Amino acid sequence: MAFLSPTLQTRLSTPLKIGNFEVNSRVLQSPLSGVTDLVFRRLVRRYAPDSMMYTEMVNATGLHYVKELPKIMEVDPNERPISIQLFDCRPDFLAEAAVMAVEEGADTVDINMGCPVNKITKNGGGSSLLRQPEVAEAIVREVVKAVDVPVTVKTRIGWSDKEITILDFAKRMEDAGAKMITVHGRTRAQGYNGSAKWEWIRKVKEILSIPVIANGDIFSVEAAVRCLEETGADGVMCSRGTLGYPFLVGEVDYFLKTGKDKETPTPIQRLECARDHLQALWEYKGERGIRQSRKHMTWYAKGFVGAAELRGKLALIETVEQGLETIDRAILRLATGDYANTSWQEEDFR
Ligand SMILES: Cc1cc2nc3c(=O)[nH]c(=O)nc-3n(C[C@H](O)[C@H](O)[C@H](O)COP(=O)(O)O)c2cc1C
Repeated sequence: MAFLSPTLQTRLSTPLKIGNFEVNSRVLQSPLSGVTDLVFRRLVRRYAPDSMMYTEMVNATGLHYVKELPKIMEVDPNERPISIQLFDCRPDFLAEAAVMAVEEGADTVDINMGCPVNKITKNGGGSSLLRQPEVAEAIVREVVKAVDVPVTVKTRIGWSDKEITILDFAKRMEDAGAKMITVHGRTRAQGYNGSAKWEWIRKVKEILSIPVIANGDIFSVEAAVRCLEETGADGVMCSRGTLGYPFLVGEVDYFLKTGKDKETPTPIQRLECARDHLQALWEYKGERGIRQSRKHMTWYAKGFVGAAELRGKLALIETVEQGLETIDRAILRLATGDYANTSWQEEDFR
């Protein structure tokens, strides 16, 4: 169980101030490509009414040439506070895309300077901007000039262990006009491996005046509290911990506001949430939503007897009816304790 020290509670009791925009929560739902669409964000919002959400990253060059709003940039007018995240290396395209983001309803515009994926970095975007700080500065300046909402940056601590450049980089972003920086405590070379080096986030916090958000390895309320204590950050951002678990941001937020643990959802409640997720993906995206739902469904099926077998079935669903029926059968089995044909497997709890 986590313990909320009075010092931490007091430090985080005021709204998070991102430039002139205030957010009544110190926990943020990270941008996750292929995950944080409108449907997922609505689920997170159920449990975390005040927290900031992020869209999936949107390609500014794509927007420039297509000039129409891709589905991943769609925002529900009721889902504020919301940030639209953009990626690219061209300041002019990013400025243009930022204007579109604000028209769509973004409360802040975030620039991705942390994505490690080759496809993005070889075109000069994502974490490769850590190696081109002048370009990154130009991007922030141009985007700040183009929109009147706060512009923020999400990045990593450096390119590799030999190139941890975050202190200089973060200062440059602040000087260029960024109103908040989120630091994922890994290098680009690490990808998602090893652990996040929170000590670098503390160092960033010590030298900046804008809010610093800590990111990396926040898989529980305990981890969020420990991270806030160790880094002195102004907030935490949850990422992989929310896959198949849209309850996490709400749990952390509730704990930071009350010092109390929210009741954790039972396996049945998690499967009911999976059911809603599947139904909503179908309604929002049709067949494509069903294909995308497979990974989500398998993430939900964890931590109970029969979960591994259920994952196998959910990974193959072809229609919404088939998916819903599979989930309903699993719920019924959990509710009645009928495991006659199911043996316990270690994979159930992985
Ligand atoms: C599937 C997946 C998609 C991601 N997509 C994005 C993205 O679109 N934009 C971004 O800034 N970071 C993205 N990230 C990085 C996360 O936001 C976060 O920085 C990273 O996972 C570290 O936090 P964690 O250790 O708590 O997962 C993605 C990560 C994963 C696993």
